[in-house]
Amino acid sequence: MTYTPKTFSFGTLDGISPKQLDVHLKLYEGYVKNVNLLESVLAAYSKTEDEGGKYALAEVRRRLGFEFNGMRMHEHYFDQWSGPSTTLGTDSTLGKALSAQYGSLDVWMADFKSVGMMRGIGWAILSYDPVGKHFFNHFVADHELGQLNGTTTVLALDLWEHAYMVDYTPAEKAKYIEAFFKNLNGGVVEKRFVA
Ligand SMILES: [Fe+2]
Repeated sequence: MTYTPKTFSFGTLDGISPKQLDVHLKLYEGYVKNVNLLESVLAAYSKTEDEGGKYALAEVRRRLGFEFNGMRMHEHYFDQWSGPSTTLGTDSTLGKALSAQYGSLDVWMADFKSVGMMRGIGWAILSYDPVGKHFFNHFVADHELGQLNGTTTVLALDLWEHAYMVDYTPAEKAKYIEAFFKNLNGGVVEKRFVA
């Protein structure tokens, strides 16, 4: 099978420029391309008996988590800006569940933003574990280190510098995080959570 880049229906974003968005979408398409490339390399060379070839193949195989998660997490990210911007509803199923665990939606939000302000290249993620019925605000380094197996990605915030450096300096990361939430379609996020 071949993965195809998704298209997204953005409105006019506030605090995220068209150039920033364009640069970022092109990077996303690169991940899709590399997932397909990786699969084709594995298929073409999987029967190699050459020692060097086996070693090289193992290193390619090791890259799958980076490329695949890079593709899928960007799809989560851009989907969140599709359609009209609406705040997460305190009375929605998600809003109520977050308030039940964290005390209030504001407390959850402050905790999530503090993950966003962590140093390092990666993502702030709100994940839901359907087994423990528990949310996690957590950091994923690159795209693959710190993923929580079997959880649902509810909210994904890209904190690689490429996500904001057309519009903001590294010292202005907090402003980028505010812009991210300002443009969020809360309805898209709420639909991801199934209690
Ligand atoms: Fe990104």
